[in-house]
Amino acid sequence: MQRFTNKTALITGGTTGMGLATARRLLDEGAYVVITGRDRARLDAAVARLDAVDDRVLAVRADSASLADLDVLMRRVETWRGTLDAVFANAGTGIFKPTVEITEDDFDRTVNVAAAVAFLASDDAAYITGQDLVVDGGLVGSVPAA
Ligand SMILES: NC(=O)c1ccc[n+]([C@@H]2O[C@H](COP(=O)([O-])OP(=O)(O)OC[C@H]3O[C@@H](n4cnc5c(N)ncnc54)[C@H](OP(=O)(O)O)[C@@H]3O)[C@@H](O)[C@H]2O)c1
Repeated sequence: MQRFTNKTALITGGTTGMGLATARRLLDEGAYVVITGRDRARLDAAVARLDAVDDRVLAVRADSASLADLDVLMRRVETWRGTLDAVFANAGTGIFKPTVEITEDDFDRTVNVAAAVAFLASDDAAYITGQDLVVDGGLVGSVPAA
């Protein structure tokens, strides 16, 4: 099936796991895909694993906790494709500790990582054409105290 032919999708946290799997699926369905992560080597490894034809992957080093990084990211997307149809705000890491031990800083960082790119991608920039926005990453995980 080719439901995303020539669409442009941004996936934050595309170096491993669900982000990488989603990138694979979107490429298979015809999309151009931007993936992000915090480490250049991990991004390069992900691009190699995706093995996309026609340069349909752009890998941008961007920490979703950094508004400066995200601003550069959005400009790179705009320059690369001129449009953005879908955002999967997937980047994140769970914090697995008892709720009472989760600090305000833990909470803020986790929520910020999940929400920041969604915020930037939801402005009225003319190149953003899509309606699809999925925020997944950054849930605060918690396990009961032993
Ligand atoms: N797996 C689950 O059962 C589960 C359940 C609930 C929620 N989630 C959430 O779903 C998302 C994907 O889960 P997963 O299991 O596929 O995770 P994963 O394999 O650990 O992948 C996380 C991805 O996010 C990137 N990332 C983490 N922090 C980042 C940051 N600050 N800026 C940019 N990229 C960042 C990582 O890239 P680098 O490390 O290369 O930067 C990696 O590509 C995560 O947000 C996770 O919290 C997962």
